[in-house]
Amino acid sequence: MCGIVGYIGYEQAAPFLLGGLEKLEYRGYDSAGICLHDGQELVVKKAKGKLEELKKLTDNGACLQGTVGIGHTRWATHGEPSDVNAHPHLSDSCRFAVVHNGIIENYLQLKDYLMSKGVSFRSKTDTEVVAQLIEYYDEGDLVDTVIKVLAKLDGSYALGVISKDNPDEIIAVRKESPLIIGIGEHENYIASDVPAILAKTRKIYRLENNEIAILRRDSVQIINTDKEPVTKEIETVNWDIDAAEKGGYEHFMFKEIMEQPKAIHDTIAPRIKDGKIVLDEIHLTAEQIRSFRKINLLACGSAYHVGVVAKYVFEKLLRIPVEADLASEFRYRDPIVDEHTLTIVISQSGETADTKEAMKEAKRRGSHVISIVNVVGSAIACESDDVIYTWAGPEIAVATTKAYSTQLAVIYLIALHFGELLGTLAPEEYSRYVEELQTLPDKIGQILKNEEKVQYLASQLFNSRDVFFIGRNIDYALCLEGSLKLKEISYIHSEAYAAGELKHGTISLIENGTLVIALATHEPLIAKTISNMEEVRTRGANVLCLACEDHPEVEKVAQNTIYIPKACDMMLPSLAVVPLQLFAYYVASLKGCDIDKPRNLAKSVTVE
Ligand code: F6R
Repeated sequence: MCGIVGYIGYEQAAPFLLGGLEKLEYRGYDSAGICLHDGQELVVKKAKGKLEELKKLTDNGACLQGTVGIGHTRWATHGEPSDVNAHPHLSDSCRFAVVHNGIIENYLQLKDYLMSKGVSFRSKTDTEVVAQLIEYYDEGDLVDTVIKVLAKLDGSYALGVISKDNPDEIIAVRKESPLIIGIGEHENYIASDVPAILAKTRKIYRLENNEIAILRRDSVQIINTDKEPVTKEIETVNWDIDAAEKGGYEHFMFKEIMEQPKAIHDTIAPRIKDGKIVLDEIHLTAEQIRSFRKINLLACGSAYHVGVVAKYVFEKLLRIPVEADLASEFRYRDPIVDEHTLTIVISQSGETADTKEAMKEAKRRGSHVISIVNVVGSAIACESDDVIYTWAGPEIAVATTKAYSTQLAVIYLIALHFGELLGTLAPEEYSRYVEELQTLPDKIGQILKNEEKVQYLASQLFNSRDVFFIGRNIDYALCLEGSLKLKEISYIHSEAYAAGELKHGTISLIENGTLVIALATHEPLIAKTISNMEEVRTRGANVLCLACEDHPEVEKVAQNTIYIPKACDMMLPSLAVVPLQLFAYYVASLKGCDIDKPRNLAKSVTVE
């Protein structure tokens, strides 16, 4: 959600800025812009739409000269997507330029105040107020002025600022929105995320809240808002550069689906030693774990769907009541949480605003927080009591696949580990489950080898107007993810329904040809799900069933079937999700959708 880049060095800045923005496209955006200091003044070029538009406008950057600049991809919040609302924003007399990720919550008051002082605004954005405030309070020293302005701002921000009067500095600052500083040879960079700078450097600083970075061509200085120096460790990013590239695949999403066996293996293998799960990351004694009376799972979107699967898994294995909560709801409902509640927060990006705030709410109420996060050093990872990283590698496609799968794998690790500690799992059961967990990468590999069947079904069904996903128990939890995957990338309306709930209203929507995707993997309830499939079939539905290979009886009701290998019930979602991801992918591809960057969506949702 909004991407920031910045360059200061001795080379032309525009190629880096455009290239860096391209690497941040995955975050979601609807306009883009860059601003360079051309030696005389600040020159801004902005364009609504894809980065291609900005590239055309700037002749791939060739028409903009300058060795210092900032760039931005904007995901509209305040003011529609348009050239004028795109960033960078200039101050009234064009002396300062600002890019911003986040939301300035009190911008209306600030704007009213500035307008009463005669400042005129060009855009409808909250960000412009920052540029105008900098000019309004400017007394010559940009750092002092930025610090003064920060004190006026409520909300979240990552900011990059350049000034006409000082072509030798970029000022960067963050609060709640991510920002990194890349350290190069005689050049330095700012970016919202690592892929933007990976081609240039692996040495970075991760700015913490309220830290201010002053970038010059040959130095980076970090201070706090009292202007005291902050000593920070340089972090070396060890990502394989290919991990952030498509590597011959047409889309990141497909590549990431294919990477799931490795991602799950990388996530579980270092945590299983001699048949035992070792989770050194969790700093809780067995006594503390025994004291928990409830587990709360907090997340958004697909990560929340992992939480719904986890509810079934934890309650079955641990016999502790579990609530899976949407982070955006949890934080405002005065939740019943105390030191006897364990909170597990799930987030790929580790920056999702609602999840982060829900986590803080749980902590304020005395709950111990374990986070499951993919992005190392992200806010949620840093602010939780314990963090278990998913080793999925960079996930670029907006729709999550491998992060979902690795989050699920971590849920199994935690459930089995706690089950053993609490004694709710018999030793032989524990060993059997640990072995099962280790077979998941191979089984997913088998499913991926047979992806043509899913591709064929997608070719038969991609014209569906409405799709219903039905299932019971843990299959229902997976329906939520299957349905989201399909609708978010193919724009086909779809709904996830608990199969038993269908006849309490939704069945009236079933008519001739309605596609119903029935998940019938949960062994104890297959017969019941088959009955529900019959109910929709008799009303004209076209039933596609996903079942384990040892249950061919589903074919008596379903027109089409996808089989997955057998596994223990609670781990079947790890297998069943794969054909659902592939189905969504192929349907979206046949419909010609922008698979990696679906409309209106952002990869990391850093606003409420
Ligand atoms: C859907 C998807 C989103 C994210 C959600 C949470 O494919 O990717 O629903 O799961 O925005 O994001 P994170 O996991 O970064 O907190």
